[in-house]
Amino acid sequence: MLLPNLQEAKNRTKKEVLIKTNDYIIKENLKELGLNKKYFVKTYGCQMNEHDSENIKAILEDMSFKPTDNMEDADLILLNTCAIRENAHNKVFGYLGRIKHLKETKPSIIVGLCGCMAQEEVVINEILNKYNWLDIVFGTHNIHSLPSILEKALSNKKMEVEVLSIEGDVVENIPVKRDSKYKAWVNIMYGCDKFCTYCIVPYTRGKQRSRLPEFIIEEVKDLVKKGYKEVTLLGQNVNAYGKDLKINYGMSDLLNDVAKTGIERIRFVTSHPWDFTDEMITAIKNNENIMPYIHLPIQSGSNNILKLMGRRYTKESYLELFNKLKKEIPNVSITTDIIVGFPNETEEDFLETLDIVNTCKFDSAFTFIFSKREGTPAANMKDSVTLEEKNKRLYELNELVNKYALENNKKYLNKTVKVLLEGISDKNKNMLMGYTDTMKLVNVISPKSNIGKIVDVKITDVKTWSMDGKIIEN
Ligand code: SAH
Ligand code: SF4
Ligand code: F3S
Repeated sequence: MLLPNLQEAKNRTKKEVLIKTNDYIIKENLKELGLNKKYFVKTYGCQMNEHDSENIKAILEDMSFKPTDNMEDADLILLNTCAIRENAHNKVFGYLGRIKHLKETKPSIIVGLCGCMAQEEVVINEILNKYNWLDIVFGTHNIHSLPSILEKALSNKKMEVEVLSIEGDVVENIPVKRDSKYKAWVNIMYGCDKFCTYCIVPYTRGKQRSRLPEFIIEEVKDLVKKGYKEVTLLGQNVNAYGKDLKINYGMSDLLNDVAKTGIERIRFVTSHPWDFTDEMITAIKNNENIMPYIHLPIQSGSNNILKLMGRRYTKESYLELFNKLKKEIPNVSITTDIIVGFPNETEEDFLETLDIVNTCKFDSAFTFIFSKREGTPAANMKDSVTLEEKNKRLYELNELVNKYALENNKKYLNKTVKVLLEGISDKNKNMLMGYTDTMKLVNVISPKSNIGKIVDVKITDVKTWSMDGKIIEN
């Protein structure tokens, strides 16, 4: 058993990051382990986790498992979890309750838990105490070892826990089974070294490790060949890409080189307001295939709170960057993340957050109530604000965010925009859905044959979270 250790996960040493090009191996005897068996993977959390699940699915298929959308049909169920907030935990433990019933009626099902929650000591303790019927538990650093972890659990007939609390390396040869045929996630870096005081990610994902540019470019070129239209470059702080490499090559260089592959659309998340260089702005401006959309989390409008959060920028420097982006990149849309109820956030602090929302009029924002994460500095800060007050602040903030989201969308009315049609709309089976270059969700009446195409759409109706439109035939 290899158990997580938050203290070790916090370490940042000078140890060199290893680029491993053949660490994923699948032994002959495991290639048919899943023959006539089905798998079901449920994913929580961010795009990075979504992408990890695409790796996990490919590994399972290398072992001959076949996918199913119905958990009840599955022989192997894997929950790829997120640790960012308490409610993410609660959802997973709730779901495990359902799976337990299933396992009681069909004891042969293999059940596993992986992802960021597996990296947390509190979670593993709870699993060892209350959920000891699980078969496998592994963390974010050893996804490529899934075949051997499964093998051990099956041959020992007891729970196999393998969680590494390490800074991490980069494993380059993990297979991938992408959920979409048109848009793809591409990791450009792993981990995070920013250690914002509220955040668990630097503990669950290890230190910042950039992939070498040649591997990224190769992956994008291959996607172009396969007919992909869009890539999203992924990292917790993409602006800091390359800083950990010993070559003089940063995010602006990467953006320019990815643009040269000819892929039609390039997005990137997440941009920390730190490290956003003028060269990046120039790259976005100069390359038509880099989308004018930036997710730029602010977290709070109060300098006191930003300082306590360890964000290392001020409201003023955020605004300066925000205004520059708006001025330099035509039609740019900017979205953000905001936390309310950080320990001891005063009414004045909160009003400053509302104030900056009124100034920036974000296209959209993800808003959260602060959630205490065991092991992070903010978890030990005294907090006198009641949950009732925090809920009230969240509600008030959401009203304001929604107002500006609608206002921004209204500017699109009667305009013609380009939309990459991705699939059937959730709201109406006769409609297709897709996103504009600025990341606005659009629904259109269209035959399914248009899925995967970038079409011109005239916007006919706008709401807070989506728009309706009509395809313009060229
Ligand atoms: N790396 C990104 C954010 C990744 S986490 C960045 O720094 O910009 C996504 C969002 O979750 C964060 O922006 C933050 O708003 C929220 N979040 C992170 N930890 C949280 C916590 N402990 N409580 C509430 N929200 C949190
Ligand atoms: Fe978390 Fe901060 Fe890193 Fe973002 S930058 S992942 S909020 S520690
Ligand atoms: Fe959650 Fe881990 Fe992503 S904590 S947000 S799944 S990096």
